[in-house]
Amino acid sequence: MITIGTDIVDVARVRDKHDAILSRVLTAREQAYCQTQADPPQHMAGRFAAKEAVFKALHAPSPSGISWLDIDVHNDAHGVPHATLFGAAAAFATQQGLRGLYISIAHVRDFATATAVCEWPDKT
Ligand SMILES: CC(C)(COP(=O)(O)OP(=O)(O)OC[C@H]1O[C@@H](n2cnc3c(N)ncnc32)[C@H](O)[C@@H]1OP(=O)(O)O)[C@@H](O)C(=O)NCCC(=O)NCCS
Repeated sequence: MITIGTDIVDVARVRDKHDAILSRVLTAREQAYCQTQADPPQHMAGRFAAKEAVFKALHAPSPSGISWLDIDVHNDAHGVPHATLFGAAAAFATQQGLRGLYISIAHVRDFATATAVCEWPDKT
């Protein structure tokens, strides 16, 4: 079974955020990556969107206990983004038998969007 999630983020809302707020949402690795880019807020907004998209794709019950920092978005050597789960997100994924998690991110000056796909065992 496949489930999907999507989100769109207004980059201006990220441009206004202070470092302390960003640290509550972005892991140290995510912040470090974004700071190497020409326009860091676009990439930060992309990570906000990716985390929301992953959360939606997980179909976790509410309240889920999943926090922003439980989802880490990182890019491989080819630039392809991947999401790794920690904490409550990882526990839920393990309990439900998550087989695969795939994300895609895109951004322009004003908007960032992301899509996530979760692959689960087929229900019998
Ligand atoms: C890599 C590429 C797809 C990025 O596209 P873009 O329009 O510059 O930028 P977008 O905003 O759409 O996407 C940026 C995001 O793409 C993702 N990305 C980068 N390289 C990627 C890759 N090789 N595969 C998948 N996703 C990739 C990243 O998540 C990136 O955001 P991030 O740096 O914040 O993580 C583009 O630069 C490219 O190389 N295109 C080649 C297209 C091509 O060869 N077309 C012919 C065959 S269809």
